[in-house]
Amino acid sequence: MLPDRLDKDWLGKRLQFRGLPLTRVVVLCSTLLFAVSMAAAGNKPTASHSKLIVQGKYLVENLGMCKDCHSPRNEKGDFIPGRYLEGAKLDFLPMHPVPNWAPAAPAIAGLPGWTSAEAIRFFMTGIGKNGKLAGPPMPQFRLSRRDAEAVVAYLKSLRPEDE
Ligand code: HEC
Repeated sequence: MLPDRLDKDWLGKRLQFRGLPLTRVVVLCSTLLFAVSMAAAGNKPTASHSKLIVQGKYLVENLGMCKDCHSPRNEKGDFIPGRYLEGAKLDFLPMHPVPNWAPAAPAIAGLPGWTSAEAIRFFMTGIGKNGKLAGPPMPQFRLSRRDAEAVVAYLKSLRPEDE
């Protein structure tokens, strides 16, 4: 409802929000918005890095099945607790000779001895640090850059001190 006369007093009252002058409310809101966007920008690398680690964990555990070869087992065939991805002798052999067959899988928790860039290239191309393809039965992965980065971020996160 409009008052009969738009006098100054009425306008002054309308331009208030819960007793605060509207100009102050606008200033408050934009300060808040600025603070929130700064906080979001500041957190961005950490937030997206932890997202990458979650994706990498998923790829390593549910798609690559890395632990099947890279985690040691006891004599009953059960994984040894606390030795996740710490390298293992394989407990199977090919039925006929296979060139370059590797009888053991190295430790990959923390990717010791690998820079992130070397490891990302390896998971994108199958080519290792020595410029050669890893021997079978290591699969020759051809991951997208994003997936390779995720796998490497996750493996590095398992031993952050090796960074
Ligand atoms: C079927 C068994 C098997 C699976 C599954 C497997 N690996 Fe391997 N991996 C090996 C073996 C064996 C080697 C050693 C190859 C060699 O010495 O030539 C190896 C080597 C590697 C290396 C070192 C390569 C190099 O050039 O030295 C990395 C890194 C690696 N694997 C990561 C992974 C990751 C990550 C996964 C899961 C996404 C995975 N592997 C799944 C068996 C496997």
